[in-house]
Amino acid sequence: MTTVQMLSDDELNRAWWKEAVVYQIYPRSFNDSDGDGIGDLRGTIERLDYVADLGVDVIWLNPVYDSPQKDNGYDISDYQAIYGEFGTMADWEALLAEVHDRDMRLVMDLVVNHTSDQHEWFQKSRQRDPEYEDYYIWRDGGTDEHGNRTPPNNWESFFGGSAWEYDAERGEYFLHLYDTSQPDLNWRNDAVRRDIFDTIEWWLEKGIDGFRMDVINLLSKVKGLPDGDPDSEWIGAEHFIDGPAMLSYLEAMDEEVLSDYDVMTVGEMPQLTVESAREYAGADGPLDMAFHFQHTKLDYDDGERWSVGDWSLPELKRLTDRWQNGLAADGWNTLYWENHDQPRSVSRYGDPENYRRESAKLLGTFILTLRGTPYIYQGQELGMTNADWETMDDLRDVDAINHARELLDRDGVEDYDDVKDIVGYRTRDNARTPMQWDDSHNAGFTDGDPWIQVNSNYEAVNAADQRADEDSVYSYYRRLIQLRSDRDVLVYGDYMGLLPDHESVFAYTRSLATEDRTERMLVVLHFDGDTETVDLPVDYVDATLVESNYDHDDADPGTVTLAPYEARVYELFD
Ligand code: NOJ
Repeated sequence: MTTVQMLSDDELNRAWWKEAVVYQIYPRSFNDSDGDGIGDLRGTIERLDYVADLGVDVIWLNPVYDSPQKDNGYDISDYQAIYGEFGTMADWEALLAEVHDRDMRLVMDLVVNHTSDQHEWFQKSRQRDPEYEDYYIWRDGGTDEHGNRTPPNNWESFFGGSAWEYDAERGEYFLHLYDTSQPDLNWRNDAVRRDIFDTIEWWLEKGIDGFRMDVINLLSKVKGLPDGDPDSEWIGAEHFIDGPAMLSYLEAMDEEVLSDYDVMTVGEMPQLTVESAREYAGADGPLDMAFHFQHTKLDYDDGERWSVGDWSLPELKRLTDRWQNGLAADGWNTLYWENHDQPRSVSRYGDPENYRRESAKLLGTFILTLRGTPYIYQGQELGMTNADWETMDDLRDVDAINHARELLDRDGVEDYDDVKDIVGYRTRDNARTPMQWDDSHNAGFTDGDPWIQVNSNYEAVNAADQRADEDSVYSYYRRLIQLRSDRDVLVYGDYMGLLPDHESVFAYTRSLATEDRTERMLVVLHFDGDTETVDLPVDYVDATLVESNYDHDDADPGTVTLAPYEARVYELFD
């Protein structure tokens, strides 16, 4: 008999965004309506029934603003216009209406740490227009012993190389924590904050339902911009991540704009810890949720992103416990494996060759049965996999191309073939191959030449086949999404991790007692391609197997023998 504290409906602190499942659309790769090889807004509208059928509640749309597309829209040149290849503002308005007509909500991407260098603000800033002179972070550099120019400090760009670029027109360096075409805004400047808050309000007035905020904990840089620790994972990070004014900027954004609207906000926050997640997105924090990255680094070798290491299940359990327990009383988790920046999860944590279906379902079970809001990235619900990146010319991702060049400069590296495995494994292009709609030419994504290669497995892995198959990854996701929306326990229930040291089985319970009902679920996940028998330390009188990625009706969760990548969800009765 397990005792769970009885909660009143009030104490559940219900919120629509806690009960929602989010589906992320990367429009460039979702569906092309006009044959130019690039996905667009009209194409997205054509596929909304598919998204609604899956049962999700919220769509997060990657940036669709006007942009030179150096970083696929994360380099914005006009916050209030739509990128021409994606469509027009009228198309975007039609998309919003169509999403709402299907009882879903639309969350937009907010990219305000930096703009494109083509933004009018930057153009005027580099010309020292008095109104915009201070909109970006400009500094004099120094000179070395040979008289060559040197940057103001040793900070690194996330995409490789120095975070500083010399601008001959202005005669100063500007800071860019990402690509050279993405100068960082100067958030110390009141006028910058005012302009950004106005932009946020402008979009909220259009009726959107929230924002996913790009690298939002990078806005505040330490005064004096001191050198960073040269041995750290991202040089300079201690001076620009969670900077001194960070919380107050977000509090002002919330007080002045966001709090007037019933919207959800989720901050993307590099190097986020549980403690700062509570500050930013606890009950008193300015945001609703935050994305951390701890589980996305499990397969790094020694903390190095451009490497592949073995990952361990006990480590995943430790960090899951840390986040589930750490935000139990205050805060709310985000649950994700994939997004447009992450390689495909089946290729990282599953077995794409031998157990693609089973492992894709297992990974889906994980994010759909934990406490928090699940985020599904387009194609994840089909078990899409990483692609092959045979030549440098196949790559499109600025990050991968920059890093491939850096790797090619290393001693002993002769050509792309020497770095192909790591670049191919890690490139963000893996997430950006076109959505696989059917087995027709180009997977039904476009009638033209796709801007990026289609994954060669589209005849075997596509939405049309999977929708017709009850046993598919798609159908499994659909059932689990339904289960989650039917069961408060899967949304609000307490989490308890079991078997912390087991090398291949991850098991946990979710428990909830309300005035209406007491519910307990047990989730058992076998992260390996062999067979494993395990004793589960749970008390129950009766149990029902509610969902599994194998066909059986084993109703006894005491001692279980698990098949390769087996996932089971039980309901337990006391
Ligand atoms: C995070 C975004 O998700 C990524 O795609 C982008 O390149 C960087 N932020 C810079 O905006």
